[in-house]
Amino acid sequence: MHDAVVSAVINVDVRGPLISRHLYGHFAEHLGRCIYGGFYVGEDSDLPNEGGIRLDVVEALRALNIPNLRWPGGCFADEYHWMDGIGPKADRPVMVNTHWGNVEENNHFGTHEFMALCELLGAEPYISGNVGSGTVKEMSDWVEYLTREGDSPMVRLRKANGREEPWRVPFWGLGNEAWGCGGNMTAQQYAAEARRFGTYSRDHGGNKLYRIAAGANSGDYAWTETLMKQLGDLGCAYRPAGYMQALSVHYYTIPGTWQDKGDATAFGTDDYYRTMVQAARVDELLTGHSNVMDCYDPGRNVGLVLDEWGTWWNVEPGTNPGFLYQQNTLRDALVAGLHFDVFHRHAGRLVMANIAQTVNVLQAMILTDPDSGALVLTPTYHVFEMNKGHHDAASLRVDLPSGAPARTVGSAELTTVSLSASRKDDRVLVSLSNLDAAEPADVVLDLRGGSVTGVRARILTAANLQDHNTPEAPAAVAPRAHEQVTPTSAGLRVHLPAHSFVTVEASLA
Ligand code: AHR
Repeated sequence: MHDAVVSAVINVDVRGPLISRHLYGHFAEHLGRCIYGGFYVGEDSDLPNEGGIRLDVVEALRALNIPNLRWPGGCFADEYHWMDGIGPKADRPVMVNTHWGNVEENNHFGTHEFMALCELLGAEPYISGNVGSGTVKEMSDWVEYLTREGDSPMVRLRKANGREEPWRVPFWGLGNEAWGCGGNMTAQQYAAEARRFGTYSRDHGGNKLYRIAAGANSGDYAWTETLMKQLGDLGCAYRPAGYMQALSVHYYTIPGTWQDKGDATAFGTDDYYRTMVQAARVDELLTGHSNVMDCYDPGRNVGLVLDEWGTWWNVEPGTNPGFLYQQNTLRDALVAGLHFDVFHRHAGRLVMANIAQTVNVLQAMILTDPDSGALVLTPTYHVFEMNKGHHDAASLRVDLPSGAPARTVGSAELTTVSLSASRKDDRVLVSLSNLDAAEPADVVLDLRGGSVTGVRARILTAANLQDHNTPEAPAAVAPRAHEQVTPTSAGLRVHLPAHSFVTVEASLA
């Protein structure tokens, strides 16, 4: 069988919307071993740490140029009371984390620890406030505690806890999944709540909050429409901030059922293709929500935030079902690559996306061993690293004049070659995925408007889709140089082996 040959036209001098670095955002919830054992091991740990924060995890995430970190949930956010997580650790009350495993939460990782983590990472904090079981005053006080200068009751409390200067907190979530774990509200009810919580979450001094309303589940476009109607106005002289600056949506790739989502590592080719069809649906969903938003906000002032996305499998055998710990294979990496291509195409409306979750939970970048503490970088981590050149670059439109190869999967058609491109200064970055499990493909890139003077290409693939990294074999799936990129008169020809992810960085004259 001959390789499929795909031709792609990219006008490298026609710059599209900027791809915000925040599309490569992260999420850390008090869930399983994400915070405790993942990010935070306590000051008495033998593992190198600063104030209890694992330095190997920090180093690995800094290498991704991690742009932001969402915390403390998720569902946990709507039962979190921030005042329990400040002051001397010995005095902090213990609570039960009823959402995630019914385990005790000692509140040793709280506001100061989270802000210290963001400072170590060089990441912007994104805090999700408690709308479901908290009060407007509680949220208002938290914003004041974090961001106000000078003197006030909350400022005095912050200073008494050792932090003189306010922090900068740009991103502020008005609850989470209000249609479910965040309060089981209707869209109308939530909109009314969000107006109150949004009003009293104040801008203090130079800290301008970017309020993100808790948005829809997957394809619930009616939810988005209600929020746009009720919260979408941009404010006025009396109330300059508006109620929200963005709204969110959550979408997980779950090819099985909610009861049996499928195994993270033991899967067949059919399961793989079904996964890819589910992953590709993110394009339809972002398009649907953007279309609704365009009706009410044609100027695109309100941002769309996909603040939870990723694969969700059955937990690893023998682990706590409430901890959502799963392995991560080459399949997960290909899901990530496909999502990023879609995100780049939606860069005009999509302002942020956060993978769920960064460490030890769902589609993680990093897995840590509960006994030895050993850290493993997952295949998904490598996609984030290989794609970091897209951060804050101008998106470039990619046209496929002859179409791309496709496979029929049940009643769906899966396009098996996916690509996206961006430009920063005189450098073009093209990301290419071959989603076909068995067949290679060649992509002929017609790069119009510039000539290529140098190329650096890398590939992420493995013998099997099921391959993954472990403490014993940490580099079973890791990027390496890709030599099968050849110059042509109009650009480049890139060979893509079956189930591979490739990045090509081209310097232009
Ligand atoms: O990421 C795990 C959970 O998924 C989050 O807590 C919740 O928001 C979503 O349902």
